[in-house]
Amino acid sequence: TPNATNTVWSHCQCVLADGVERGIIAVNRMLPGPSIQVCEGDKVVIDVHNMMQGLELTIHWHGIHQRGTQISDGVPFVTQCPIAEGNTFRYQWTANAGTHFWHAHTGLQKLDGVYGSIVVRQPPSLDPNSHLYDYDLTTHVMLLSDWLHEDAQERFPGRLAANQGQDPETLLINGKGQFEDPNTRYRTNTPLEIFTITPGRRYRFRMINSLATVCPAQLTIQGHPLVLIATDGEPVHPVVVNTIISFSGERYDFVITADQPVGAYWIQARGLGECGTKRVQQLAVLRYARGPYQPQAQAPTYDVGLPQGVVLNPLDAICNQPRNDAVCVNQLKNAKAVDEGLLQERPDVKIFLPFRFLFYRPEELFQPHQYNRYLVAPGGGDHVISLVDEISFVFPPAPPISQLEDIPPEQFCNGDNKPANCGRNCECTHKVDIPLNAVVEVVLVDEVQSPNLSHPFHLHGYSFNVVGMGRSPDKNVKKINLKHALDLDRRGLLNRQFNLPPLKDTIAVPNNGYVVFRFRADNPGYWLFHCHFLFHIVIGMNLILHVGTQADLPPIAPGFPTCGDFRPPIEIH
Ligand code: C2O
Ligand code: CU
Repeated sequence: TPNATNTVWSHCQCVLADGVERGIIAVNRMLPGPSIQVCEGDKVVIDVHNMMQGLELTIHWHGIHQRGTQISDGVPFVTQCPIAEGNTFRYQWTANAGTHFWHAHTGLQKLDGVYGSIVVRQPPSLDPNSHLYDYDLTTHVMLLSDWLHEDAQERFPGRLAANQGQDPETLLINGKGQFEDPNTRYRTNTPLEIFTITPGRRYRFRMINSLATVCPAQLTIQGHPLVLIATDGEPVHPVVVNTIISFSGERYDFVITADQPVGAYWIQARGLGECGTKRVQQLAVLRYARGPYQPQAQAPTYDVGLPQGVVLNPLDAICNQPRNDAVCVNQLKNAKAVDEGLLQERPDVKIFLPFRFLFYRPEELFQPHQYNRYLVAPGGGDHVISLVDEISFVFPPAPPISQLEDIPPEQFCNGDNKPANCGRNCECTHKVDIPLNAVVEVVLVDEVQSPNLSHPFHLHGYSFNVVGMGRSPDKNVKKINLKHALDLDRRGLLNRQFNLPPLKDTIAVPNNGYVVFRFRADNPGYWLFHCHFLFHIVIGMNLILHVGTQADLPPIAPGFPTCGDFRPPIEIH
């Protein structure tokens, strides 16, 4: 509950969020959960003890590559069995440098509070941008999240199509914020997050987009340009922008110079796209040491925001030309050596992944065909699944990493190999096998008709080089689809650029556009590749990139928990 007095700026150890009462799932009684801040190469051991009644979970370490620790990736039924109530699972991994985060990878728990930051620092000599900042403080991590006023399960029950694009009530910055009731105009007086800087110094900020709904978040800091130096844990050639639009799962590191008059300045995070309807935003404060805590300027509102200037990640996705008002992610330049072989050769494996939604009628549930449970009426329906390459992903009954023999082979499928009775609504465990060390190119094609939605896809286990993104160059083509993308590719029109392409692990596919990325498949394992919107994981916007064979994986430790179906012969006495 909100602090009853008016000491809005006091620091509070209890969970206040935006001051509106609701139940949450807390990790170590904190929101966000504890920040893991370690050094590159550190071995990290985390015991996750599940104290939730009747609920299970796993935790994923988003951005940690899990080389040699594939069973610690935290994907239920892919790299482990979910942790049951009362059980403890010990995750162990080696830290690769960068700004990352951890979150529940089960159900909708992330939206109820199960997330926190991971910062893996490295010696300045290893960061090509270390000369650009004086400080990299533990207190300058900026975790953006979205917040509901009810349990996520209540807001997003089942696969109702009406769940699509549901706006959160507000955003939080490091778990803090205020909420203004749109009807009564009553505003809670919970504390806003305050970031303190000292005049004359340069600070590295580490921003993490931990939103779970479909809103892109736009971050702007009054009077302070942002020198972007890294994304998704990987350094880029510095670029000065004024506002950063980020998508669920992305991280952006930037440097701020404390060169303005001593005072307090607004930090504004706005929800964009489908989230514009509720005009959801949140504020925080950039405060100069020994200055006031409260900015002099009027707080920016959703409609009269802070001046935007140069935007990173423009939603129009005009990314094939340099422009003065915006920078696209594919125009960032990798600040580390690029594996040239990856870029010059023809890829060994090329995967086109168109994705779209499919609407169906729930009254046609429970058809007797195992793989054809949702028969689709021609007119659509009020429930929704997502198709990637015409397959809606379902998790297998046990994790293939440890129990491959317990999964019926017909459970798995891919574009060339679908179960015989798979119709327009094919549901199976989409798994693409990739030989170890192959050079892989993935082309994501957004066939979704709804406007305003740019789906951010996240690949576990890797960073990849983004070599192209945009919309169709053909003026008369409004809606891109697989056929058109293949045609563009044949004509060499897929906007590929091989000059220091940036490394990312999460990339938003422009609405009605495409993304092309490449990586060398040198990390064996079962890696989930999925849209990072929470509800879209639930409706099947996932697949597994399976790299190498079982023999390439480290042995499974004795006692690794098992799960799966139990179907003995029926005995009637
Ligand atoms: Cu941050 Cu598989 O997700
Ligand atoms: Cu999506």
